[in-house]
Amino acid sequence: MSLISQIGRAFREPGKAWRYAKIAIRTIPFRTRLIRLLPRSFSLTHAPERYVTHLPKYRERGGLFDPADSGKWLSGNPNNAGDMPRYHFLNLSCDQILKEGISGDVAELGVFRGNSAFLLAKLARRLGTTAYLFDTYEGFDQRDLEGVDAAAPTAFSNTSLDRVKRLVGEENTVFVAGYFPDSLAKVEGDPRFCLVHLDCDLYAPMKAALEYFYPRLVPGGWLIIHDYASLVWDGAEKAVDEFFADKPENLVLIPDKAGTAVIRRLSRMP
Ligand SMILES: C[S@@+](CC[C@H](N)C(=O)[O-])C[C@H]1O[C@@H](n2cnc3c(N)ncnc32)[C@H](O)[C@@H]1O
Repeated sequence: MSLISQIGRAFREPGKAWRYAKIAIRTIPFRTRLIRLLPRSFSLTHAPERYVTHLPKYRERGGLFDPADSGKWLSGNPNNAGDMPRYHFLNLSCDQILKEGISGDVAELGVFRGNSAFLLAKLARRLGTTAYLFDTYEGFDQRDLEGVDAAAPTAFSNTSLDRVKRLVGEENTVFVAGYFPDSLAKVEGDPRFCLVHLDCDLYAPMKAALEYFYPRLVPGGWLIIHDYASLVWDGAEKAVDEFFADKPENLVLIPDKAGTAVIRRLSRMP
């Protein structure tokens, strides 16, 4: 008996409504019922199927995503619960890198409390490479709060390097603390990246980051740009538009809350 027909019977025979309702509930798969009991903020109902219904098959194939990691995405940052599509997109990007066998180091500019960095470090561990995590670890620097960002608030100082290390772990990870781009002087060698996540909100660091990271992306490498299309951070959007005006790659927008955009580095000019 289908769910619809049980509901119809409950309406036709109100005296037996509860009995038919119980039969109707049993027609819904157990896993679906369980997921619907979770608080909305933790909801997996709109997650990619590979992370829910087909998780066993995904695991058999060696996938990186682990539902238990969601706590790290949310740790000290409950706002992230409202942007699970962003988290799922980051995970899918890691999946595709592993599937295509692209290798390289991983980087993030804008770590704050490490809620996205933990995933990048996890990817680097799987690849056997290094995750470079750039931040002042003290919030925005006054030098960047000028021009298009003159009205931006002082923000993100409520974190610390120790706190981030506890969440992210230190294996395969280099924490590059200090003002970007000056902090690049601390990077040894000349790394090449398969995934770079730019989440620094402001014009000056975004511009400097694009100039440094773009030429160092391996062919097929992912450049994920946070805050591009949210209409909150005009400086970030401006820096990206200026930079990509003469590049062969085009931006693709991701329908998350944060206005993420992505490009993948071409191996040669079209
Ligand atoms: C939105 S937060 C990053 C959030 C984090 N990626 C996440 O998903 O939870 C932006 C971060 O960029 C950092 N940042 C901005 N400009 C910077 C600069 N010039 N040098 C280093 N860090 C900078 C800030 O300190 C802040 O921690």
